[in-house]
Amino acid sequence: MIKPLILPSYYSDTEIFQREQMLIFQNLWNFAGFTTDLQSHNDYICAEIGGKSIIVQNFHGELQAFLNVCSHRFSQIHQLPQGNGVLKCPYHGWVYNCDGIPVAIPSVERFDINNETRESLRLEKWLVEVCGKLVFVKINDDGLTLKEFLGGVYDKLAKFSEAFGHKINEFKIKINANWKITTENTLEGYHVFSVHKNTFSKYGFPVDKKYICNEIHSAYSDKGNPKYIEKSKEAILLKKAESILESRPLKVGSFYHQLVFPNLTIATNDGIAFYLQIHQPINPVETKLTSHVFVSKLDIKSDFEQDIIDTLTQSLTKIYVEVCEEDKAICEIVQLGISSRNQEGGIFSLEEQRVYEFHKAYSKLINSPM
Ligand code: FES
Ligand SMILES: [Fe+2]
Repeated sequence: MIKPLILPSYYSDTEIFQREQMLIFQNLWNFAGFTTDLQSHNDYICAEIGGKSIIVQNFHGELQAFLNVCSHRFSQIHQLPQGNGVLKCPYHGWVYNCDGIPVAIPSVERFDINNETRESLRLEKWLVEVCGKLVFVKINDDGLTLKEFLGGVYDKLAKFSEAFGHKINEFKIKINANWKITTENTLEGYHVFSVHKNTFSKYGFPVDKKYICNEIHSAYSDKGNPKYIEKSKEAILLKKAESILESRPLKVGSFYHQLVFPNLTIATNDGIAFYLQIHQPINPVETKLTSHVFVSKLDIKSDFEQDIIDTLTQSLTKIYVEVCEEDKAICEIVQLGISSRNQEGGIFSLEEQRVYEFHKAYSKLINSPM
């Protein structure tokens, strides 16, 4: 009998939430954004990680990451999720260079600042590394590179993200549930026929299911039942788009879902579209779900071909948004239940093996000394 390792109280407890922020989010590599938003000098993105706002900025082609807090009197520096501009605090106008050192301080003569003080006023530096088009940051300088952290998943993520074409959908929603509920929900297909009867289930019954547990980052693939899929509207659209989709750079031959522990998931339907989700904890019982959907890079030769692809992606996006809404609703119901439960217990089926793997990885980290 496989049982959950995370106690129900861990899904609403404030102290556990603080431990998670420190031992998980501030300790591991975290997804921060896309290199495509950081192409030019002074392009920047901001990400919320472990309860902190982090900036990643391009300085003449080199990416640097800092805590988004001014060293003078601690105002936030950049406010937009992404943009282009010098690293300048909006409060008194301090400007920072690529090393996070304040290089322009208005009325500097009124301060008692020498070179040493300037150095001590450096912004808190975070580590930043890139895998394909994905940018990751980390505060804990324990020597573990992004490649080592991702292990066998590194090459997969690089290939997936290099295949991204246009972004066809992006949204942020707040879910009234703990981030572990929303993340675990993506790791099992057991709920699909109950929760997504008229949406996700259209893709067919899973066939040739494979669970791949690559250290802490588990994955799942299945080919789906082709006969069942052929009846759906999406199948007809896919058939119509078949010759255009042939030009896509990545064919994985199945539906594929990858967790990058702790809270990033990337799914693809045979390399046609890519669905990224970040399950960002707001507090013990609220999560911000950010979702990005990309269609594959394609060699589109005419407006007619573009129309076919647009119709297909609109249809896929519509189903995806419906699936997300169904998941939001069920996660909020799960939170109501779990918040009322004090005892341990529960049980996992074989379909929920990845949730169990998630519990194992989580428990190891949360129980380590602070
Ligand atoms: S708080 Fe940033 S310049 Fe004063
Ligand atoms: Fe779901």
